[in-house]
This record gives sequence, C-alpha cells and structure tokens, in this order.
Amino acid sequence: MRKITIAIDGYSSTGKSTVAKQLADYLSYVYVDTGAMYRSITLYALNEGIIKGDELNKEALIAALPKIEVAFSYDSDSGTSQVLLNGERVGSAIRTLEVSEHVSPVAAIPEVRKKLVAIQHQMGKEGGIVMDGRDIGTVVFPNAELKIFMTADAAERAKRRYLELKNRGDDITYDEVYENVTERDRIDTTRADSPLVKAADAIEIDNTETNLEDQFHTILQLAKDRIAGRI
Ligand code: DC
Repeated sequence: MRKITIAIDGYSSTGKSTVAKQLADYLSYVYVDTGAMYRSITLYALNEGIIKGDELNKEALIAALPKIEVAFSYDSDSGTSQVLLNGERVGSAIRTLEVSEHVSPVAAIPEVRKKLVAIQHQMGKEGGIVMDGRDIGTVVFPNAELKIFMTADAAERAKRRYLELKNRGDDITYDEVYENVTERDRIDTTRADSPLVKAADAIEIDNTETNLEDQFHTILQLAKDRIAGRI
C-alpha cells in the first residue's frame, strides 16, 4: 500500500496534535509534532538567558543555532515519540505557558525555520508521515497528498487549553490562556516568513462544535481515499 504524506496545519490549540497522533497510530505512520521543535528552541533560549523578560536576543539565538540539536526518539514503552533537546527529554518542559508566550517570536526568525524545516524534510522524505504545524502544507510538504487546515472559535480553543493546563496543575487563569492563544495566532499569521495560511488545496475543518471522534473518522476517511488513490 502506498505511503502518503499528511499535513495538518491550523491555529493554536485546535487539537491538531491529537488527531495527527491518532491518524499516525491507526496508519502505522510516523508522527511529527513540529510545534514541539519550535518550542524546544524557545526553551533553550529561556534556559540560556537568550530570552530575558520580554526581550529576545535574536542575534544571540542565531549564533547559538549550531549548538542546538532537536530530535525525536521513539519510546516503545509508551508507544509515543519524545522530543529531545540536546539529547534531553523536554516533552513537558516545552508545554508551559512561559514557553507558549515566547515561542511565536522565535518561530518568526528565518534562520530558526530554515534549520527546523531541513530536519522536517529529512524525516518526511520517505512518506508515511503525519506532520502537524503551521506551514506544513504550504512550505514543508507542498506536495502532500492530504492537507488539513484546522480552525475553531478562539474562546473554545482557549477553554480547552486552559482545562488541559489546569488539569496538569499549572497555576494559570483562563484570561491568560485566551490572551496567549490569540496573540500567537496574530504573530503566526502575520510573520513575513512562512505565515500560517490555508493552502489552496487544504480541506478546512472547524471543530468548534465537532466531537473529536467524528472528526477523526472524517479525516481518516479522507486519508484512506488518498491512499487508495480515489481522490
Ligand atoms: O503547535 P504548537 O502550538 O505547539 O506550536 C507552537 C508555536 O510554534 C506556534 O505558535 C507557532 C510555531 N510553529 C511554527 O511557526 N511552525 C510550525 N510548523 C509549527 C509551530
């Protein structure tokens, strides 16, 4: 059976990674969370004092890029892949509100994008991959056989993210999360390099009111059609 490339792009907290992971599991494809890669570089910048308060020292970050290694390792116990920053697992450290608040300016730096897109190309060159992010269908894999563009109402997205962070014990308010989600959308859609935009041939899915199970089956059917060459 042919192995296709599936690109899932969309706004922050639309549940891209949940559905991407489900699809990859079902199809036995590799799943790549590209947001985790931009978050890992942001974590490095925070840890090294390259971001201080609200100030991002772009030149220092660009100079440090050759020292930053971002990779994934497959964990057979949990059946998931873990993001590694210079060899260390940073899966939960990159999910804090602090990283979320600084990641979009980091992701707007062309040198950062160039480095990560090269890694993404390498990971996806054989097909059999589900990759989620902001520019996968437009820049990273413009020839992907299936492109999904996910949206949902901002208040609903903020609510979902707020509950997720609260459940893991983070000390945050709904208003902070709403502010972060909408501010990231603003920066991600207006940056000069690879802004978040729906590819002309992407299928838009608004999941404000959809249950996640239905959404999964809709996207899975689209994937099966593409794999069988029906569309
Ligand atoms: O998917 P996420 O929320 O974890 O992504 C974090 C940030 O990384 C997002 O606000 C923008 C950036 N990003 C990007 O610019 N390009 C990608 N392909 C993935 C994420």
